[in-house]
This record gives sequence, structure tokens and C-alpha cells, in this order.
Amino acid sequence: MDRIVVHGGARLEGTVTVSGSKNSTLALMASALLAEGETVLHNVPRVRDVDTMLQILGALGARARWDEKDAHTLRIAGRVTKPEAPYDLVRKMRASFLVLGPLVARFGAGRVSEPGGCAIGVRPVDQHLKGLEALGACVRLDHGYVEATSDGLQGARVVFDLNTVNGTQNVLMAATLAQGESVLENAAREPEVIELARALVAMGAQIQGAGTDRIVVRGVPGLRGITHRVAGDRIEAGTLLAAGVITRGDVTVEGVEPEALETTLEKLRETGALVEVGSERIRVRAEGAPRAIRVVTAPYPGLATDMQAQLMAVLTLAQGSSVVTETVFENRFMHVPELQRMGADIALDGRSAHVRGVTSLSAAPVMATDLRASAGLIVAALAAEGDTTVNRVYHIDRGYERIEEKLRSLGAEIRREA
Ligand code: EPZ
Repeated sequence: MDRIVVHGGARLEGTVTVSGSKNSTLALMASALLAEGETVLHNVPRVRDVDTMLQILGALGARARWDEKDAHTLRIAGRVTKPEAPYDLVRKMRASFLVLGPLVARFGAGRVSEPGGCAIGVRPVDQHLKGLEALGACVRLDHGYVEATSDGLQGARVVFDLNTVNGTQNVLMAATLAQGESVLENAAREPEVIELARALVAMGAQIQGAGTDRIVVRGVPGLRGITHRVAGDRIEAGTLLAAGVITRGDVTVEGVEPEALETTLEKLRETGALVEVGSERIRVRAEGAPRAIRVVTAPYPGLATDMQAQLMAVLTLAQGSSVVTETVFENRFMHVPELQRMGADIALDGRSAHVRGVTSLSAAPVMATDLRASAGLIVAALAAEGDTTVNRVYHIDRGYERIEEKLRSLGAEIRREA
């Protein structure tokens, strides 16, 4: 089982290009099931979650493979021979559930294992099912599988009870082939929703309002495959910028639009970092200890919950006490005990973590528990005195392509050990 060893203390500086967005890629891969013909995705990150989705598409009978010439290009033929996504794959990645909407919309049937909860929370799919049922799908639970059938979805008004990114994406994809007009109220506004809608429109869908909380879709008889370049990963960008700040360095990330992580940049500015933005590039410079700040995660355009652990790592070395409040997931503080092992002074109080800044962190063997918690531990390790070993690095590999190489190119002393 791989682990990453970081010798902390190096000041990061230089420029690095982020990979394509993992979360956009997963939704775009599912959307290929809606289209006749081949969908080509460029700038796809080579991460484990994408491999898992490739296996899911394969299990459905869709021919999905990496391009022979370009290692970051996927080719997906939207054909399905068996509309069932098996438990052993879905349990590895709950985003597999994103195939249900396309399956029932295009093929009239989909059977996907109910994704269990995961480390960060129960993460039910009730909103996905509420939307599909509103569009006329017949949904039933059968031996741990969700089965959705329909002999033709009908446009409808769907009001989500809460903000759900994948729920919005699943229902949006289904609505593109429903007969008539659908209105998605209280829709998620994340950049990944906007990017998916853009790709669906390129496929021939009729969608207005993506990026607002009200999306209007006019169903069409069919969609055709497209070529699409995946946007840069805004969370990977935020992670690399946090690494620049905690090491009091000078780091530029390229290949991502700044407004996709504007609130993260605002928070980094509040800590005293200098943040400059340009077209598809962001530069941070930090000197001295960060200032203590208040962080509250929220649906977009609020601070991304996926950036919470990485910002907390920075704040463990702040001057003064910060408060970090997690409002999206109910159990997303598993990085806290590991940071405490490194000398961080953090007290948990329900959904808030009170982070009292210390003057230094000390290296320790730590355990990765989920994708972004592990990223937070790596950020902390970059500033800790000594060699930190982050175990169970497969969590990181789910969403970051060769994170150690990107950080090493910025001057980090970091290596992967098998
Ligand atoms: C997406 O997950 C991302 N994953 C997550 O990133 C991200 O943390 C999350 O959005 C929030 O931004 C992908 O896009 C693949 P939600 P998603 O539905 O869509 C509750 C990462 O690290 N909820 O917006 O599954 C849910 O329990 C991952 O890259 C319901 O109650 O998240 C959670 O508390 C982690 N019922 C809240 O809503 C539902 O039907 C937000 O979840 C759906 C969600």
C-alpha cells in the first residue's frame, strides 16, 4: 500500500499546471451515455475515480477507453448492452450513481447499486430519486439496487429540498431527453454543473439557467456525441495554492479559471497572502505566518467543502485562533485527529473546529481517511519539521494525478514509497 513521505520546510515556488477536473469528468463520462455516437473528452485526469467510472461504463456495455495517442483523452461510445451498474464498482465511488439518469432517459431502464455512505457522511440519494420520479420514472429499491424504469420521461418541475451537485446533474441529464419542458428549482450552481450543461447543449440539448438555482430544460428527441475539453480542477488548484501559502512561498497554478475558486482565493487573501489572477492562472505569495480567519463551507459560490481540510491545515500555523465550520457534510473533520498528532491545537465543537495557531508542526506518521483530508495532511506536512509519512495514499490517488510530482516541481521534498 503506497505511502507518501514529505520532508517539511521547503519554501514552494514556481509554476504548475493543474489536471482536468475529476468531478466534471465523472459527470461528463456519464453524459456520454445520453448521446448517439462517440464522445471524446480531452484533459481528463489519470485518477482512480476516472478508472472506476471507466469500469462502470464498461459493465454497461459502453465502449470507453483511453486514446492511443493522448494519455489524457477518453473516447466513449454511448452504447449500452446491460443497464446495470454493479455493487462492487458503485460501492467504490458514489458518483457512479450519475449513470442512472442517462440510463433511464435514453434506454428506459437503469439499475444501480444504492451507493453506501462514505467516510464523510451518509450521503443519501433521495434527491436524485425525487427528481427522476418527478420526470415520470418508476423507481424502486430491490436488494440494495435502485431500479428506475420509464417508457418515456415527461418534463416536470423539480424542487430540490437541498443543494445537491450530483443530484442536480443526474436530473438535468435525464431531463434533456424528457418530453416537454422541465424546471429544476433550488438547483446546484457549481462550475461542474455549468460545464456539464455546456457539454449537453453542445450535444444538442436545450438548457437555460445552468449556474443559477433555476435551470429550464426543453427535451429533445436525441443527443449526439461531442468533443469536449475538461476544465481545470479547481480543488486541485486550491490545494496547490494552499501549499504555497503554508510554506510562505510563491506559487502559480495554470490551467484553471480563477472565478471557479473565487471564495477560496478570498480566504487566502484574508490570511494575508497576496493573490494575483489572470486568464487561466493564479499566483499566491505569502510571507510570515498567516492571519487567523473564519471559514464556513457552503454550496457554490460559498467556500467549497472540498477545500476545508486544506485551509484548516494552513490555519494550524496562523497567528491567533480561527474557526472552521463545515455545513455540507456531517463528518468531514477526520483530518483533525491526524493534524493534532502533528502538534496542531484544534478543538471540535459540533460542526465547528476551533483552530488555535501554533508556531510549528512536527512530522508524524498520519493516516489518510478520505480524499480531501489526505490533501490537507500533505499540505500540513509540507510545513512540518521532519519527515511526515502519509499512509493509505490511494485516497489521494482517487482525485489527484501524481500529486507528489506536481509538488516536487515546486521544490517540495516529497516522495512516494510502495
Ligand atoms: C459532489 O458530491 C462532489 N463529488 C463532492 O466532491 C463535493 O464535496 C460535493 O459535491 C459538495 O460540493 C462529485 O461531484 C463526484 P451533494 P455530491 O449531493 O454531489 C446531501 C470530492 O472530494 N444529499 O452536493 O454527492 C449530502 O448527504 C467529492 O471530490 C442528500 O441529503 O454532494 C450532503 O450532505 C467529495 N440527498 C449534501 O447533500 C441527496 O439526494 C451535499 O451533497 C443528495 C445529497
